[in-house]
Amino acid sequence: MRVAIFGLGYVGAVSGACLAELGHEVVGVDVSDAKIDMINRGEAPIVEEMIAELTAGAVSMGRFRATKDAAAALIDAEASLVSVGTPTARDGTPDLSFVDAVVAEIGAALKGGDRPHTVIIRSTVPPGTTERRLAPLLEKAAGEPLGGRLSLAFNPEFLREGRSVRDFRQPPFTIIGALSDKAYDDVARLYAGVESEVVRTTPEVAESIKLLSNAWHGLKVAFANEAGRILKAAGVDSRRALEIFVKDAVLNISPAYLRPGFAFGGSCLPKDLRAMISIAERGRAAAPIMKAALASNEAHLEAALAAVRACGRRPAVLFGLAFKPGTDDLRESPYVALAERLIGKGYALKIVDPYVDASRLMGKNKEFIEREIPHFVEMMAKDAEEAVDAAEIVIYGHATGVDKGAILERGVGKILIDLSGDKDLEACGADYRSVAW
Ligand SMILES: NC(=O)c1ccc[n+]([C@@H]2O[C@H](COP(=O)([O-])OP(=O)(O)OC[C@H]3O[C@@H](n4cnc5c(N)ncnc54)[C@H](O)[C@@H]3O)[C@@H](O)[C@H]2O)c1
Repeated sequence: MRVAIFGLGYVGAVSGACLAELGHEVVGVDVSDAKIDMINRGEAPIVEEMIAELTAGAVSMGRFRATKDAAAALIDAEASLVSVGTPTARDGTPDLSFVDAVVAEIGAALKGGDRPHTVIIRSTVPPGTTERRLAPLLEKAAGEPLGGRLSLAFNPEFLREGRSVRDFRQPPFTIIGALSDKAYDDVARLYAGVESEVVRTTPEVAESIKLLSNAWHGLKVAFANEAGRILKAAGVDSRRALEIFVKDAVLNISPAYLRPGFAFGGSCLPKDLRAMISIAERGRAAAPIMKAALASNEAHLEAALAAVRACGRRPAVLFGLAFKPGTDDLRESPYVALAERLIGKGYALKIVDPYVDASRLMGKNKEFIEREIPHFVEMMAKDAEEAVDAAEIVIYGHATGVDKGAILERGVGKILIDLSGDKDLEACGADYRSVAW
């Protein structure tokens, strides 16, 4: 493909050299004369492993050159890649002015033309930017709507500086947030030859994945450092502990626990987070992440409560009381906490959880529920169908297949607040609501 790349910084310079290596014909555009001159001399404008040789090779083969003239670069380009900076503005939001300027420049240069062209945004931008901000900007500048000759996509970049050429060749995945099939096909064509899973989604999901990834990486680094401080304060070899910790690919370094749902609880997670915090405090080590995990969980519980209160209707039935399905362990169950707060707000509440048999509860479990919800025995509904019929609001934490069937069959006309993310519930004809999706 013939590609114009706008912005020859870390992303643009690496993409240019690597796309040329894949066989594309690349023209780079930048406002910096120094960068343009360097590329045209066959020198990389950045320092990165392998980039000097790649740039020299691509330029000498005539597959990569640079110019300041956007219109000239676009004359017969089939696609343009936007990789200008999006630094933090004074108010903390990303400064999108460079992206805006380049998209407007591309639109103006394409105005009145007749060749198909796909604009691909690679700069990191907030969710919604491509569709709601850049699409209208491009349409206005080009004087024609997207969907005809012009297409637009968001395609995030996952390279790490220092090993960016290797990351370009072997990315974790190729995400294409496309507004049309043509946009998707063009981006996919650009990376043909790069071995990675290609995922098609909407631009705003693609934009979110980039931000989520960097937030997650930051959180991981901060977690490892905080864990190190706490363990050091307790006299433990933290490097050894984390080395072994990451060997668990089932629960620790895995998709487990990474799905939006309801608050965590149970007999272990809150207790052991509090234990970590107390160890940190004893050793005078700062533990803001451990504390924030508890605070964030509490915020999630409050968000669920607010969602129920926003319905303006009562009574309610809660499906699920134990902290997870298939157990009668009620200790620190977030559903117990939600029930307790709803009762506190005067809600007439019924609870469906066949695993919780009041007559069989014992020890700490019994003590806990009697303290949190003194009359919970009277609230436990024996018949899920009757409970759904009698309620205006159905709150879904978890349920057996049979009890879920009662909601699916009888949920029409009720408000259904789904705390679990169970896709079956969305289609049952109830007024479906959620907290985190
Ligand atoms: N650096 C990374 O590792 C990395 C990784 C993934 C995503 N990103 C994202 O990619 C984007 C670019 O990052 P970067 O590190 O390459 O930035 P950078 O600052 O190194 O490069 C940006 C380039 O854009 C040029 N530019 C500015 N305005 C221009 C215009 N109107 N026309 C043409 N060129 C123009 C600048 O001169 C500069 O060379 C950012 O949104 C960043 O968040 C960066």
